[in-house]
Order: sequence, then C-alpha cells, then structure tokens
Amino acid sequence: MATDAPLRALDLYQRLTAPYDTIAKQRGAAGNFPLMIIPTQTEDTFAFIIHPIDIKRDVQRKYPFLGRVLSEGQISFFSRFWPPVYISEVTGITSASTGRSVRGWLLSVPYTPATMISLPPEEVYRKIVATGLKAEGLGARILGLGAFTSVVGDGGITVAQRLQLPVTTGDSYTITVAVQALREAGEMMGTPLHNATVAVVGATGAIGKTCAEILARDAGELILVGRREDALHAVKERCKGRAKVSISTRINAIYAADLVLTVTSAVHEIIEPQHLKPGAVVCDVARPRDVSRLVVAQRDDVLVIEGGMVEVPGAVDFGFNFGFPPGKAYACMAETIALALEGRYEDYTIGKDISAAQADEIGEIATRHGFKLAGFRSFEKPVSAQHIAEVRERASVSIKHWRPAY
Ligand SMILES: NC(=O)c1ccc[n+]([C@@H]2O[C@H](COP(=O)([O-])OP(=O)(O)OC[C@H]3O[C@@H](n4cnc5c(N)ncnc54)[C@H](OP(=O)(O)O)[C@@H]3O)[C@@H](O)[C@H]2O)c1
Repeated sequence: MATDAPLRALDLYQRLTAPYDTIAKQRGAAGNFPLMIIPTQTEDTFAFIIHPIDIKRDVQRKYPFLGRVLSEGQISFFSRFWPPVYISEVTGITSASTGRSVRGWLLSVPYTPATMISLPPEEVYRKIVATGLKAEGLGARILGLGAFTSVVGDGGITVAQRLQLPVTTGDSYTITVAVQALREAGEMMGTPLHNATVAVVGATGAIGKTCAEILARDAGELILVGRREDALHAVKERCKGRAKVSISTRINAIYAADLVLTVTSAVHEIIEPQHLKPGAVVCDVARPRDVSRLVVAQRDDVLVIEGGMVEVPGAVDFGFNFGFPPGKAYACMAETIALALEGRYEDYTIGKDISAAQADEIGEIATRHGFKLAGFRSFEKPVSAQHIAEVRERASVSIKHWRPAY
C-alpha cells in the first residue's frame, strides 16, 4: 500500500490540474493511473454537489457558530481556501418500479455563486474536481453537479473529463420539470399553454433554450428574452411548433406574457413588480432567484412559483436541511438519483447543448421510478390551490385597470 502513495499523489495532482481538452476520460485505460480504486459493487450509489446560495443562512446550516459570527464578506473570502465539505449520507430512496434502493452523499463546494462567477473557471473546476474525487472515494457511481457548479465554464465537460465517475448536471430533468410546473400552474390560473403568451428569460442559456424549444411545441406565442440578439435568433431557429416566436433583449418584453419561465445565471434579481401583468405566472428556475422578493410583497395578483421541486420515491432521508420540505428534492438532484436507480452510469447531461429528446427521456425514466412534481412553492413557502384561486380572483379585478409602467 505504502508504495502506491507517490503514484496516488501524482494521479491526484494530474487530475486536479489537467488543462481543458488535454485529457480524455479513460476509465482504466493505459496511461491513466487507476489509483482511485472504486470497489466492484452492485449497490447503486450517487453523490450530489451543492453549494451555499444564501450565504449566512446556508453556512449556518452546516457550521452554526461560523455562520453566526462571520460576515458574508468574510465567509466569501475564507470559502476560497476551504476544502470540499462532506455534508451527509442520503438513505431511503426506493424505485417505485423496480423496488431497488440507492444510497448517496451530499457534498459541498464551499463557493458562492458570486465567487464562482468571479474566479477563473480553472480555479472553480479544481474545487469541483476535488469534490468529485471525494465522491469517488466514498464509492459514488455517478456525480450530480448542483446549481452553479453546472453553470460555470463549459457546464460539466471539463469536470467529467477529469473524473473517473460519470457526471451529470441534472439540467435535462430540470427542463422537463420546469415546463411541467409552468404548464400546470398556468392551467390552475385559467391560462392553458395553448392560449398563452409565454416568455422565457435567459432563453440563450443551457436550460432556457431547451425549455423554449419544448414550450414552442404547444404555446400560443413565445417571447425569447436574452442579452444577445444573435444568440436569440439561433434559439428561435430551434423553436419549431405551433407558437409564434419573437425575440427581445429587454426584460420589459415580459409584461406581454401570461406565463414566464425565468432561468438566468444572474447573481442579482432581474424581475421586479412592474414587469408583470396581472394574472401572470412566473416559474423561477434560477438559483439564486431571478424574481425579486418585492414581487411577492407588492403584487398579490401574480403567481410566482419555484421551478424544479420534485417528490422522491421512498422514505428518503437527506440527512441535511437544504431548504426543501422532507422527501422533496431539486430536479437536478432527482436526475442524478434517477440515473442511479436506472443503472445508467454514464455522463448524461453535460455541456450547454441539451436536446429536447434527452429532456423527454429523463422525464420518462424519472416518472417510471416514481419521481413527480411536488406541488408548488414560492419563496420557501408552499402554495395551496386556494392561494392560486385567490390570486386569480384578484387578477381578474386588477387587469381592468392595469397599465404597464413602460
Ligand atoms: N432549480 C434547479 O433544479 C436548477 C438546476 C440547474 C440549474 N439551475 C439554475 O438555472 C440557472 C441557469 O442555468 P444554466 O445552466 O442554463 O446557465 P447558463 O447556460 O450559463 O445560462 C444562463 C443564461 O442567463 C443569462 N444571464 C446571465 N447573467 C445575466 C444577467 N445578469 N441578466 C440577464 N441574463 C443573464 C445568460 O445570458 P448570455 O447567454 O447572454 O450569457 C444565459 O442566457 C442558474 O441560476 C442555475 O443555478 C437550477
């Protein structure tokens, strides 16, 4: 064992520092030291990477004392030097169709979204790869990249190249669940998709463009909102279906929309109360959120829901409170778990180009194993059918006097 130590250290060093595009994934191939030995196992396992979003609150969940005494600035500064963090073991997940169980682990990259955006991608890749090595050491057979760890750089491609275990961003199932949530909430608000003007904000992003493509199949009208006109035209080309499609580089364009799906990687809120028309439904998939809290405080005639919360099959115990009610997970987490239940240990969703077919496929896999949309939430609170009926009622009154502020 002792003689392996230098080789292990070399392998670790190479995998943490290998430049983009210079190594291919070579599981066990000659030249790639097979040093992170994953025992032959039949148990289905996964690991999922999370990170702090609401800095003080999230750090307090793991380190109550540090979260209390350190300021946000201090936490952001020190987090750059903090190693990957073991969060918890996940147990109790059982497939509804096969009865098989999976075990998993939550691990954390200690960076905030703002840190990940501001650091050179290479530095962030290193931290994510180090976390992935920890997952390999635990015996995980697939790794999910949560929230901004999938946004940074090339969306998981480099990370997947540097790890032996397969990687998925979870974006395919995030797309499926976001579209489903928007569709169902729209129906409850009396705006079925086929009658609706739908806006996708962040339409040039990995998640946004495929959501747009799927929504274009059935929507009445579709407005693609983004920052780059040329990229919006390219997304418009992908949107084949019954929807009449237009593009805009101005956020104000969403006040024409009945249904809004927002999924930018902005680190600050971009949708304010004056942007929305009465009765609008906004499905906010972004983490951190795109929708300002002021919308909920000032506009009781619009419905804001969070995209991406799903019910997990079995008596799941995540061993950690990441802000969801018991038994519920982010769609990106659910994709990782569903792939483990399916025995699909492969790089599934990586990169920034996700096909609608892949989103459809993971939707079918997840449904078969018992994952489903877990009702609606808005700013950490459950949204009841009665609340939706009340919003709808108020919107029917305020729409009569409504004038957009622009
Ligand atoms: N809820 C979930 O389960 C879940 C799962 C995965 C990801 N997410 C979240 O989804 C979001 C998007 O992820 P992604 O992988 O699609 O990211 P992405 O590929 O990087 O796309 C981000 C999009 O946001 C736009 N954008 C960035 N900054 C902006 C700003 N300040 N104002 C307006 N638009 C801005 C980008 O525009 P350009 O094209 O012009 O750069 C791009 O269209 C992230 O917040 C991520 O955390 C949530």
